[in-house]
Amino acid sequence: MNFYVLTLFPEMVQNCLGTSIIGKAAEKGLLAIEAVNIRDYTQDRHLKVDDYPYGGGAGMVMQAQPIYDAYLALVKRIGYRPRTIYLTPQGPTFTQSAAKALAQEKDLIFLCGHYEGVDERVLEEIITDYISIGDYVLTGGELPAMVMIDAISRMVPGVLTNEESGSLESFEGNLLEYPQYSRPAEWNGKKVPEVLMSGDHQKIESWRREQSILRTRRYRPDLLKQAELTIKEKAQYGVYEL
Ligand code: ADE
Repeated sequence: MNFYVLTLFPEMVQNCLGTSIIGKAAEKGLLAIEAVNIRDYTQDRHLKVDDYPYGGGAGMVMQAQPIYDAYLALVKRIGYRPRTIYLTPQGPTFTQSAAKALAQEKDLIFLCGHYEGVDERVLEEIITDYISIGDYVLTGGELPAMVMIDAISRMVPGVLTNEESGSLESFEGNLLEYPQYSRPAEWNGKKVPEVLMSGDHQKIESWRREQSILRTRRYRPDLLKQAELTIKEKAQYGVYEL
């Protein structure tokens, strides 16, 4: 899968995604992440990429021309117009299921805005998806793009070595993950729950399921209402009363 990031700060993207699991997946050829410097496409003699907003107001607006030309050069290389995402707090919030869906694409383009925004006309021309990573305002779209690339990448087959870890985890079926323990069996006076040492896999599975439900009820009751529970579980854990 190929990610292309249109940005004024390409180093930010390259440095961050070159390491750890995502970096290894890129080395294996499962992913490719390319940062495109929008400034390379400006026709301004002083390499300017922004200007004052029409109608006045604070800050500067990123101009349409350099963004559009950077996009067109990319599209020419790729051979078609892939889904193109604009990171903005005005979009719907990014979710695990959106990450899964986007992992089906062969190519994705991300446009990172800065300053007060981007000229609306170029957004109308190239953007297919507006996405926010949460209800807060950041200084630019690079961090949100990297958050999305990380979450999408781990849904690409082969990126996670243990295939299971991609599915049995938080948000699967709208439940949070159960607690995990490793050696030693007792640490700081705290023992690992007995059931996990029992070797009884059925018991362990049902304990984990219960922990997932209890955690979700405690920390994310909003999620629990949409969780995939049996009628019996719904009654047992008081989901109808939430
Ligand atoms: N740009 C600035 N803030 C953002 C946010 N919360 N999500 C996506 N893009 C953004």
